[in-house]
Formats: sequence, structure tokens, C-alpha cells
Amino acid sequence: MRTDFLVIGSGIAGLTYALKMANRYPDKKVVVITKAAADETNTKYAQGGVAVVNDLEKDSFEKHIDDTLIAGDGLCNKNVVEIVVKEGPDRVRELIEWGAQFDKEKDGDYKLGKEGGHSEFRIIHHKDITGWEMERALLDAVSRQPNIELIKHCFVVDIITQHHLGYLVTKSSPGTECYGVYALNLVTNQIEKILAKITLLATGGNGQVYRTTTNPSIATGDGVAMVYRAKGRIENMEFIQFHPTALYEPGLRGQAFLITEAVRGDGGILRNKSGEAFMERYDERKDLAPRDIVARAIDSEMKKTGTEHVWLDCRHFSKEKFIEHFPNIYQKCLSIGIDITQHMIPVAPAAHYSCGGIKTDEWGRTSVNNLYACGECSSTGLHGANRLASNSLLEAMVFAHRCFIDVIEKIGSIEFNEKIPDWNATGTSQPKEMILITQSLKELQQVMSDYVGIVRNNIRLQRALSRLDLLWQETEQLYQGSAVSPQLLELRNLITVGYLVVKSAAFRKESRGLHFNTDYPQKSELVQNIVM
Ligand code: FAD
Ligand code: SIN
Repeated sequence: MRTDFLVIGSGIAGLTYALKMANRYPDKKVVVITKAAADETNTKYAQGGVAVVNDLEKDSFEKHIDDTLIAGDGLCNKNVVEIVVKEGPDRVRELIEWGAQFDKEKDGDYKLGKEGGHSEFRIIHHKDITGWEMERALLDAVSRQPNIELIKHCFVVDIITQHHLGYLVTKSSPGTECYGVYALNLVTNQIEKILAKITLLATGGNGQVYRTTTNPSIATGDGVAMVYRAKGRIENMEFIQFHPTALYEPGLRGQAFLITEAVRGDGGILRNKSGEAFMERYDERKDLAPRDIVARAIDSEMKKTGTEHVWLDCRHFSKEKFIEHFPNIYQKCLSIGIDITQHMIPVAPAAHYSCGGIKTDEWGRTSVNNLYACGECSSTGLHGANRLASNSLLEAMVFAHRCFIDVIEKIGSIEFNEKIPDWNATGTSQPKEMILITQSLKELQQVMSDYVGIVRNNIRLQRALSRLDLLWQETEQLYQGSAVSPQLLELRNLITVGYLVVKSAAFRKESRGLHFNTDYPQKSELVQNIVM
């Protein structure tokens, strides 16, 4: 297969870009590939909403910019912050034109929520299922666009570069180029070669590298791992954001249900085992301090009291108001016996968002020619050391647009590379024991959660590195002799992501934003991004 425009990922970033491209070039095909069902994305699970300046009389770009910079703790790229905040309203308007609906007041104004680190109410939302509504609207718009081909259940294995033509590609080789991808069609079980003039990676996050995460199972950092293998630049991987309030369910592994920060925005109070509203002791912004601070405070309370969760108290809410804003959370809690009007909700931090990723410039260009990245897999400079709540959907839309603008400029000068060989699967066979893969995945998640979580130190990072090294060697051995399967590919990608997180964390000899190392509790004067 060949296409001018290839998009990997069907979340907000990939679909926004695809719609723009398809609309601009009605006579060309845009191919969107996703490894799962079309809507199985981090996007679908977004709850709180989109942070965007709505009303310049009540809010201002400057305030949103300042809030983003403060949360980012010295590492945001100010130019990028200004771009995202100022271009955001236009992108949200386009999404509304494509059919997304956000909650409104009786007078027709948008209802605005507030989350940690925001100085104003500025978060537009669709009840507590904003991402579901956005994904729905985007997929509907895609289905009306005849020149978008959406291929589901197709797993991209690697991006194709000069390496696949037999040339040595290193980090310092100039002019590495992307010619498309190899992808495992999960329906036919064949690896296909897909040539493209321009490839966009919109592969989302990597929460699955931890034992519990708010992310669905697709979030395995595939795009980051592919670019790292292709010798492209990856940035700031140590900044993993733990959401303070995932619903605690005893024994749960994998995807945890989120209790949106908007609940605290509406007045929810965190309490410890003794019922104390402990956030007062940690930050003057209390329950609405930025996420890194709240997650660390919860971690510290849990460690002090020997509990596996704290409580989120919503008993003082009016039931009608709670249900109006948070119907999904209300139902979920009720389904496990928690009536939020009478019981507190058990919550604990869970891996939530990757602030780092594939390094891009302000047009979404990666360090590999003809390869773009946007959305959660990218590191644009917006988030710095800690993402401000509800800034990621906005970033994805703004950067999808900027990639689109940049690609238009250069598409005319790019040719397909006709020399790319087909995938070579000789000498491989189906892995005989799936347990080798599933057990390694469990080990990886355990190591990352125990040694590279909210609070880190040098010994834990060293241990993590040596455990990951072993897992890496065993998995590579398996990979070299096996026919590829999604489980093996994801394990391999997750180990790479884990390695990048640990290595970047070990390089950073300070505590900043989401990265807290008890051996270096202070912020260093050297303000640097860690690029690998
Ligand atoms: P995704 O939406 O995750 O899409 C990734 C796509 O890539 C998927 O289609 C996947 O199948 C595909 N893919 C991945 N690897 C491969 C591969 N190898 N081959 C083929 N396809 C592949 N942000 C906010 O701004 N506001 C919020 O309120 C908010 N709430 C959130 C709540 C939850 C529970 C979660 C998990 C996240 C939340 N976020 C929120 C973060 C935000 O939802 C994500 O950062 C954003 O949706 C990411 O969009 P994306 O398009 O980059 O990736
Ligand atoms: C939430 O709703 O609490 C998540 C918001 C976000 O991750 O931006």
C-alpha cells in the first residue's frame, strides 16, 4: 500500500490532522491506522475537559499562559505555551463545527470547570465524559469524509528509514528519513509495507508501563519506542504524571477508573485515614494545587498511615448537582456500592500522562525527516516538568493543525521511496509460551511502580535499570526468533519506554515538577531538558 498521508493513531491528534488533510486534498487518500477499535484511545476516557480561554472579559491568555508556566516548573518552552493558549480557541471552534457538544448554561454560555493549577474557571466539558464526546464527533466527521481510509486492528511495528535499505543510521547521522511503516495486520496476521510521503505519529501515551494507570491497554508508548529505535530524539521521559485520584479498587491491575479533578474543582475534599483534610498542610491551594504536589501529598499520607488509599469526600454536594456534572462517576461508584452522598470515595494516585515523548519543534516536526508527531506521544515544550490539567486535548488539536500547515508546504517536493524491501520473517516461529511475555510484562510494571513511581532515589533507579536490562535481553532474544505478535511488540515497546524513563530520571540530578528524587530534593540552577 502507498499513500501521501499516513496517520498512526485514531485519537484526537490523529483524527484532527486527518480531517484537515482530507478536506484540503479531496482527490488524495489519507490513511489512518489504529491497532485496536477506532475509538479505543486515551482520548475516549478524558473526563475533565479542555482548558481554553473563553471569555476575554473574565479570563485572559496571560493567565492561562502563567498557569501553564507555573505548573511546568521552569521547563516549558514559553513560545510554545503562547502558541497553544492563543491558537486554542480557534481549534476548539473547529471541533464544535465538526459536531462536538459541550455543556452550556441556560443563557447559552459554556459551563466552565476548574482543576488544579488553574487560576480561573476555563474548562469546557461534556458532563464527565468529554473525551467520549470528542472522539464520537471526530469519528462521525471522519465517516463523512470519503477520502479517509480508517484501518482498524493494524499494529505498526516500526517506521521505515535508511536502516531498512541497509545503511547504518545513528543518532548523529544527518538526514534520517521516514519512508512509511511496517504494520502487522491483525486480521490477516501478515506484516504489510505501507509507503508514505509523510507519516504522522499520534500514538498516545504509555501509562501501561506502570501497574495501575488511568490509561487503557493501548497506551504502550509504541510511537516513542519506534522513534527511539529509528535513532530519533526523545525528550523528558522522566516526567510521568500520576493522577492523584484514580478510584481505588483492591487488587486491581491495569486500567483504573478516574475520578476527575473537576470533582475537587467543584468542592471535593481529600481526607486521610483519620478524616483530616490534609492538603492544607501541603499547599495553600489545598486540594487544587497542581497535580505533582497533590499526588506527592497523597503518597506521603498513604505511607505515613500505612494505607493503600485516601478518601475523596463529596458527601456535602447536592446530589442533583453532582449527577448533573458527573453522571458517569456517580453510576460507577454506585455500581461498586459507593453512594457518594453517604460514603467517601477511596482514591489513590495512578500513572496518567507522559509529559515527555518524541521531541518536536513548534510545527510538530521530529528529528526524522518527513516524520511528524503530535498529541501525547510528542514532547512539544508545552508541559515542561508537569502538565497543567486539561491542557493536553488542547495541545493535540493545536499541534495537529500546525503539522497540517507545515506538511502542505512540503508535500509537493517528496517522492515515494521505491526501494524499500518487504518485511523479512524468515527464521521466526510463533512463540510457544505466552507466559514468557505476560510474566515479563508484570515484572516490568512491578519494577516501574516500586522503583520509579512518584518518589524516586538513586538506589531505586539503579535497581530498576539492572532489572530492566535483564528483561530487555530476554525479550530481544524472544523477538529475534519469534513471529511478531501484538503482545510481544507491546512488551518490547514498554521495556524501551521504561528504560527511557529510568535513564532520564537518573540523568536529572535534581527534583523538579513531577520528578522527585530524595537524593536531590532541591531544584538545580541548571535548567535543562533531557534528550536521548
Ligand atoms: P490517544 O487518544 O491515546 O490515541 C492513540 C491512538 O494511537 C490509538 O488509536 C491507538 O490505538 C493508536 N496506536 C498506538 N500505538 C499504535 C501502533 N503501534 N499501531 C497502530 N496504532 C497505534 N486530557 C485533557 O486535556 N483533559 C482531560 O479531561 C483529560 N482526561 C483524561 C482522563 C483519562 C482517564 C485519561 C487516560 C487521559 C486524560 N487526558 C485528559 C489526557 C488526554 O486524554 C490524552 O493525552 C489525549 O487524549 C491523547 O490523545 P492522542 O490522540 O495523542 O492519543
Ligand atoms: C481529569 O479530568 O482530572 C483529567 C484531566 C487531565 O488529565 O487533563
